[in-house]
Amino acid sequence: MTTTPTTTLPHWETTPDDLPGAIREVKQAIRGRIEASGRTVEEVFAVVEARIAERVAEIRGDVERGETVWPVIDYSDIENGTVSPEQLAKLRRRGCLVVRGHFPREQALGWDAGIVDYVERNAFFESYRGPGDDFFGSVGSKPEIYPIYWSPAQMEARQSDRMATVQSLLNAQWKHESDGVTWFDPDRDSLYPDRIRRRPPGADSNGLGTHADPGTLDLWMTQGYQQTFRHLFDGSVEQYDPWDAAHRTSGPQYPGTTMCSAFRTFQGWTALSDMAHDQGVLHTVPIPEAMAYLMLRPLLDDVADDDMCGVTTNQVFPASERWHPLLMEALSGIPDVQAGDSVWWHCDMIHSVAPVTDQQGWGNVMYIPAAPWCERNERYAGSVREAFLSGSSPSDFPEEHYERTWPDRFTVEQLNATGRRGLGLD
Ligand SMILES: [Fe+2]
Repeated sequence: MTTTPTTTLPHWETTPDDLPGAIREVKQAIRGRIEASGRTVEEVFAVVEARIAERVAEIRGDVERGETVWPVIDYSDIENGTVSPEQLAKLRRRGCLVVRGHFPREQALGWDAGIVDYVERNAFFESYRGPGDDFFGSVGSKPEIYPIYWSPAQMEARQSDRMATVQSLLNAQWKHESDGVTWFDPDRDSLYPDRIRRRPPGADSNGLGTHADPGTLDLWMTQGYQQTFRHLFDGSVEQYDPWDAAHRTSGPQYPGTTMCSAFRTFQGWTALSDMAHDQGVLHTVPIPEAMAYLMLRPLLDDVADDDMCGVTTNQVFPASERWHPLLMEALSGIPDVQAGDSVWWHCDMIHSVAPVTDQQGWGNVMYIPAAPWCERNERYAGSVREAFLSGSSPSDFPEEHYERTWPDRFTVEQLNATGRRGLGLD
């Protein structure tokens, strides 16, 4: 039996000045709280490890049988309400999804061509000043990541019925109401604006290492996240549910270049070219509850008292062979996708982009997540609205503002009801 500890953990609602000191203090307090339940940290971690090991074995089994690890659902089944219970169960177990035919292939290819026209008409490559941050590489003077947010193609996709339909299905996998609180509205998206990637044939890329995006030290140190992860920190780890949105959608995050102001149920992108599975594509560790492992691993006594397995502010949350070898065994890439397919992964999940040399074909995507309406997203929507109206880079991104003077960006008159609701205009 576990008892409910009554002490609150020390917490910092803004980045602590003394990070090592705060790490020591919060780790000691979390350890104490777990031990107050009558179990040791090692026992609690072993429960998590066993649960993850089962998932890893399932995934290895799928690979050995030649089955696709990633769930795949046809858009037509989502639209017609004919997604089977087995398909939904696999989506929840794996926490990731490929939606086949989310948009007609010709429409996606047309959007890709439209983006090229848009940036060329506006002499983007001539005025490009180099990457505004160092998240992604670039090839020569042409970027792979276009810091472009307001093209007709992106806005048409964001406000489309097809996007809303898929986002609703994804959001519905989450528990969005509890304790009399509606944590988010699963049927209203906040149109989180993000960039475009266009990686040309022949490209060499180092890819992106395994990491997670939900936050950094704030995940242990703010009161909101301490409540989100309450079952990890109080010895009742069996009750931890990665699909429970409680306390995730209001609290602060520590600022930094890696911060996402929005709450996303799923990160995602829509393919604007066909991409083969071995051409430097996205991989995930398709185990949503791996977050429990990531959060508890630093509490074991082989990690220094002032270390969170390398997690620190202003950098992405690293996942590594050194601290998380069990998780790395499950790293699984997407299957081949076509232009118009979309790819989604639970916001906590570890992911990476594989390296590629001499890439065959284009690797083009527009990043569009599921960011349902909630307190946090409503707050951010205010600045998104201003960025949209002035053609500016959204405040989560480097201040590059290429589109301010571009006459043909998407206009407020072109918004439909979904677009207006998403920007909080209605
Ligand atoms: Fe990421």
